[in-house]
Amino acid sequence: MTGLPTPVIIDCDTGVDDALALLFAVRHPGLELRAVTCVAGNADVDQVVRNTLTVLEQAGAPEVPVARGAERPLLEPVRTAHHVHGRDGMGDLGLPAPGRRPADVDAVTLLRREILAAPRPVTLIPTAPLTNIALLLRTHPEVTRNIERIVFMGGAVATGNATAVAEFNVWHDPEAAAILLTAGVPITMYGLDVFQRVIVPADDVRRLRASGEPGAVLAGRLLAHRDPVTGEEDPPGGLGDAGAVCAVADPAGLTTELLPVEVNLAPGPARGQTVVDRRPRPGEAELHGEAREQPLVDVALDVDVERYVKLYLATVER
Ligand code: RIB
Ligand code: CA
Repeated sequence: MTGLPTPVIIDCDTGVDDALALLFAVRHPGLELRAVTCVAGNADVDQVVRNTLTVLEQAGAPEVPVARGAERPLLEPVRTAHHVHGRDGMGDLGLPAPGRRPADVDAVTLLRREILAAPRPVTLIPTAPLTNIALLLRTHPEVTRNIERIVFMGGAVATGNATAVAEFNVWHDPEAAAILLTAGVPITMYGLDVFQRVIVPADDVRRLRASGEPGAVLAGRLLAHRDPVTGEEDPPGGLGDAGAVCAVADPAGLTTELLPVEVNLAPGPARGQTVVDRRPRPGEAELHGEAREQPLVDVALDVDVERYVKLYLATVER
C-alpha cells in the first residue's frame, strides 16, 4: 500500500448507473480518474459521449479526458436499453448539454496513451459492453504491462437479465467479453449476482436530492430514476455499475473466488452466458483428458451491501 491514489480508467455506456460510477470515481480520494472512454450500449455512442461529458461537468471534474469509442459491437448489432435508462440514456432528467467536446482521439488511442503514461499500473473498470477493451487488447497488446487489474461489470453466475442466462454487457458483445477474459491480467467479474444487491435506501436518496450540491443532487436524482414500468414515487436506488468502482476503492467489501469462466459464443438461447465452473471436483472432461483451458477470473460471489452504500454516500457527499 503506497498511500498514493490508484490510477483508474472507466470505459462506460452512460447510462444512469454509469453516471453514478463516474460521480463516485471523481470524488473518491483513493482513486485518480485518468480518462473515460465511451462505447455503444445503453445508448448510441454519441449520446453516451454527451452524457459522460455532462456528468463530469456536474461532478466538478470537467478536465478528465473523454473519448468516443466503438459505435457497435464486434459482430452483433447495437441494441440500446432506452426502456431502462430513458430516451436520453440518463433517465430523461432534462440535464444540460455539455460545454465541451470529447478528445480528438478515439477511445482505443486514449486508452493506450493513458495506460502507458500512468506512473503506476492502471486499474481498468469497464461498466459497459467490452468492445473498446477488446479492440484495445488486439490493437495494442503491450498495454497489459501497465494494467494492474480489470474489474468489469458484466456477466452472472446465476440468472441473466438480457436473456434468462446472459447479462446485458456480455450479451451485447460476447466476442469482446471472451477476448477480455483472456487478456492475461488479473480480472474481477462484478456480475449481476452482486450488482443487483447494492441498494441505497429511500431516505438517503431523498437527502441527496435535497442537498443543494450539484454532484450529490445528480446522484440522488439518478438513484431515484425508476424503470417506467415500476414507477414508484420515492424509491430506493441501486448503485449498479457504481458498485464495481466501490470494489476497486474498497476490495475488502467484496467476496470473490478464483474460478474458470467461459463466455458462451454459440448461437442460441445461451449466447452471452458467462459459464462459471464452481464444481469442487474434476468433471468428466478432466477425467478423460479432454479439458480445455479456461481463464481464471476472480468472480464476485458476495458483497457487503451496507459497507458499499455507506462508502458511496460518504464519497459523493464529500
Ligand atoms: O446488465 C446491467 C446493465 O446496466 C449493464 O449495462 C450495466 O453496465 C448497467 O448499465
Ligand atoms: Ca453500464
